[in-house]
Amino acid sequence: MGLFGNKKKQLIGLDIGSSSVKICELQITGKGGSQHYRLQKLGIAVLPFDAIVEGDIMDSNAVATAIRQVLAEQKIKARDVAISVAGQQVMVKKVTFPLMSPAELAESVRWEAESFFPAGQGLDAYALDFAVLEERPADGNMDVVLVACRKDKIEAYLSCVAMAGAKPVLVDVDVFAIQNLYEIGAGEGARDEVVALVNIGAQFTNLTMLVGRKSLFWRDIAWGGHRFTDKLMEDWGISREAAEQLKEGVSAEGRTPEEVEPSLSAISDSFADELGRTIDFFRSSFKVDRLDRVLLSGGSAKVIHLPDILGERLRVPVDRLDPFQSVDVDERSVDPAVVRDIGCTAAVAVGLALRQVGDR
Ligand SMILES: Nc1ncnc2c1ncn2[C@@H]1O[C@H](COP(=O)(O)OP(=O)(O)OP(=O)(O)O)[C@@H](O)[C@H]1O
Ligand SMILES: [Mg+2]
Repeated sequence: MGLFGNKKKQLIGLDIGSSSVKICELQITGKGGSQHYRLQKLGIAVLPFDAIVEGDIMDSNAVATAIRQVLAEQKIKARDVAISVAGQQVMVKKVTFPLMSPAELAESVRWEAESFFPAGQGLDAYALDFAVLEERPADGNMDVVLVACRKDKIEAYLSCVAMAGAKPVLVDVDVFAIQNLYEIGAGEGARDEVVALVNIGAQFTNLTMLVGRKSLFWRDIAWGGHRFTDKLMEDWGISREAAEQLKEGVSAEGRTPEEVEPSLSAISDSFADELGRTIDFFRSSFKVDRLDRVLLSGGSAKVIHLPDILGERLRVPVDRLDPFQSVDVDERSVDPAVVRDIGCTAAVAVGLALRQVGDR
C-alpha cells in the first residue's frame, strides 16, 4: 500500500487526531459534471489527553477503543477506511525534475528523498510516495510532490485501526485531505488567488499554500489548541477540563468565558505571529508577493475571535471553512445539530471520505 493508496471505491474517512477520532462517510450522487456528495455518517469520539503525543500513539488500546466506539455508534458496516498522518515525521515537498520516464522518476525521487531525512536515517526507516503534479513540456520540466513518513509511525496507526476491526486501505496526509475538501467547494472564485488553508488541531496546525488551484507548499506547525488550554490553566489556576469548557464558551470552576477572553486573545496573537512567519517564509521561497485569503478549519478554528485577530494581524480576510458547504446533509441519517456542532472539526475526516484514488 502506497502512501496515496490505490483503491477506487468510496472509503470511510477516519481522522485519528490527538484529541479525538472523527469519522465520516459520504455517498456520491449524480454523475460527471453534476457530481454531488451526500453525508451519510458523521461521528466523533474523544481520546484521553495523552493517548497521542506529538503525533505518536502512546496508548494504542485507547485509540483502538475510540475507533471501535465511533464505528459502533455510527453503525458503520463498510469497514474499508482512509486514514491520514501528520506531524513532524511526515514531510511533503514539491520538487521540480526534468521531464523523464516513470521509471527514471521513481529512481530520481529516491535520490532526492535522501535529503529529507535526518542524519543517519534513510529510506529503510521511511515510506516514500510521489505524484506528478504537472508536466511542463514548454520548459522541459515536471513538478512532483514527494511524501515521506516514518514507517513505524504508519504501522502504529494501521495497527490501531486493525485492532478496532476496520481495514485501512489508504494512508493520506492531513494537508492533502484539507486541500481535497477545499477543491470541491472552491468553485469559480479560486482562479489565481493566493490562499492559505490552515487546519488548527490540538497539537498541530496543518498549512497548505495554494496559488489558484496549484498547491506549492505544505507544512505541519507544532502549534495547536493545547496552547490555549495551557494558558487558561496557568492564568486562572483551573483544571484542564475547566479550561476546555471555557474555550467552548461554558463557565467552569467559577470563571466565565468573558473573564478569560484576554488569555485566549493573547494566544491568538502569538499564533498570528507563528503563522505569519511561516507564510512569509513561503512567500520569499516561492516569490509570491500576495496573500488573498485564509481559510481556517480544525477544532481550534472555533476559538472565539481567532479569525478576527488573524485577519487584523495578517491584513487579509480570514474565514472558517465549512466542510459541509458542498455536501448535502441527509437528515434521515445525520442530525443537522450534530453537523453544526462538529463543523470545521470534521474537515480532515470529510476530506478523507472524499478521497478517490486516481485524483492525485
Ligand atoms: N468550540 C471550541 N472552541 C474552542 N476550541 C475548541 C472548540 N472545539 C474544539 N476546540 C479545540 O480544538 C482542538 C481539537 O481540534 P481537532 O479535533 O481539529 O484536533 P485533533 O485532530 O484532535 O488534533 P491534532 O490534529 O492536532 O492531532 C482542541 O484543542 C479543542 O480544545
Ligand atoms: Mg487533526
